[in-house]
Amino acid sequence: MKLPRQFFRPLAIGAPEPYRELPPRLERMIHFVPPHIEKMMAKVPEIAKQVDVVLGNLEDAIPADAKEAARQGFIQMARATDFGATGLWTRINCLNSPWMLDDITQIVAEAGNKLDVVMLPKVEGAWDIHYLDQLLAQLEAKHSIRKPILIHAILETAEGVKNVADIASASPRMHGMSLGPADLAASRAMKTTRVGGGHPEYKVVADPEGDAPRAAAQQDLWHYTIARMVDACASNGIKAFYGPFGDFADALACETQFRNAFLLGCAGAWTLHPSQIDIAKRVFSPDPQEVAFAKKILAAMPDGTGAVMIDGKMQDDATWKQAKVIVDLARFVAEKDPSFAPVYGF
Ligand code: GLV
Ligand code: MG
Repeated sequence: MKLPRQFFRPLAIGAPEPYRELPPRLERMIHFVPPHIEKMMAKVPEIAKQVDVVLGNLEDAIPADAKEAARQGFIQMARATDFGATGLWTRINCLNSPWMLDDITQIVAEAGNKLDVVMLPKVEGAWDIHYLDQLLAQLEAKHSIRKPILIHAILETAEGVKNVADIASASPRMHGMSLGPADLAASRAMKTTRVGGGHPEYKVVADPEGDAPRAAAQQDLWHYTIARMVDACASNGIKAFYGPFGDFADALACETQFRNAFLLGCAGAWTLHPSQIDIAKRVFSPDPQEVAFAKKILAAMPDGTGAVMIDGKMQDDATWKQAKVIVDLARFVAEKDPSFAPVYGF
């Protein structure tokens, strides 16, 4: 096992120093764009002003005969666009595909100084991260990349979920992780064809009482995985995300899925359709009423210790910390997205 003091050393001579802490970035939505479609690429400069992260997708949903066009389209878009404070990510093809090596070598060579994060699909264990970590260091050194390119893993195989804590701690290059409910469902042989969200048949039913209709309530298929992912990420100082929600017409179900992830600790979600951008912005920016209450708690306990009652509810050192999570996030959102400052009263 690598000694702790080696952990933060660059893996190639001339590669940039790995970060010790994640650079603070607001990443409420990771907005997917298909770089092989010119019409969509023409919209990127406008989209980049509305979202926190633009991601050029090279993996699933890009047809095999368009993989090279997508890679070239991404490189052109990366070079031609000024992203300002908006993050630029790409989802490369998976490690055992015929495209991954060219994806990473060409993109780092031609747009490495613009790229913030590489999303790696179908990560099974720490060994996948170690491979990409080493390769990125070599490419960064070769192409004089000035800041480390981070790795974001998609948690979408049963093996990956089994190894989630090892993946989260595999490298200082780890940015975070996203739940990939479609691939994960297939990998686990879950019997659903939906991309994220619930399933009407996954439920609990009340005991029989004579002939009365029995109440039933749908349960959350993803609770266990999201909770494991959040613990693995939070304990390693990296960020957890919910992935795709495939039913674009069902805004309420999308919002509910996003909010469950937010409440459990996720920082953001993927947006695959423009209609999901506002949903993610609303959900992953804390609720103004919750922020107002959290501000009251902080004001009532200036040094964060003791116990007070506010609106009939007990507050102590632990609720002070809960309130601080919310107020810190609200302050961060307001800083990066000034339209929220008056909403939160900053
Ligand atoms: C995303 O990649 C998924 O498989 O859900
Ligand atoms: Mg997938």
